Amino acid sequence: MSRQYLNGKWCVRCGKTSPTPYLSKNLKLLPEKGKVLDIGCGNGRNSRHMLSLGYIVDPVDMAPPDFGTKIVLGKESLPKKKYDIILANYILMFLNSTERGFVMAEIQGRSKKGTILMVEMYPVKDAHPYDFEKIVAYYLDRGWEKLRKSKDKCVLRRVT
Ligand SMILES: C[S@@+](CC[C@H](N)C(=O)[O-])C[C@H]1O[C@@H](n2cnc3c(N)ncnc32)[C@H](O)[C@@H]1O
Repeated sequence: MSRQYLNGKWCVRCGKTSPTPYLSKNLKLLPEKGKVLDIGCGNGRNSRHMLSLGYIVDPVDMAPPDFGTKIVLGKESLPKKKYDIILANYILMFLNSTERGFVMAEIQGRSKKGTILMVEMYPVKDAHPYDFEKIVAYYLDRGWEKLRKSKDKCVLRRVT
């Protein structure tokens, strides 16, 4: 991990090239093909992994890798598509509650029945406070079910 000053705030960036272990561990829960939105993709480690598996991937970040799209989350909209898989690994805690609420609603808008949403969070330095249970409850109230859940990590599937 390294800290960088990006778009007016300090942010933690992961230097690893291997995908997050939670993604590797839960690949079997994902549809075998489809469109992936990688929100706050960082250096693109998860996007690259999904591309290598044959998925169509939209990586977005305020400082994306060369194959991604620059989007300032909470201020600018996510691509206006419906996705089969939405990855939000180690991003939501870097957004304040207003930005996070905006992005959570956008995730709902970019999903459809069957979409898988993966969320991982961690209370790092420079993170905003969050209540992971409330984030999960937000989606459970909007037609999602839990496939996996542990402290600060979950895989949800939209059922309606
Ligand atoms: C810890 S990295 C996580 C990267 C990736 N998801 C992973 O698991 O390796 C957090 C990322 O969030 C991005 N980020 C933080 N705030 C953002 C914002 N408001 N808009 C867009 N990207 C943001 C940073 O640029 C950084 O790449």
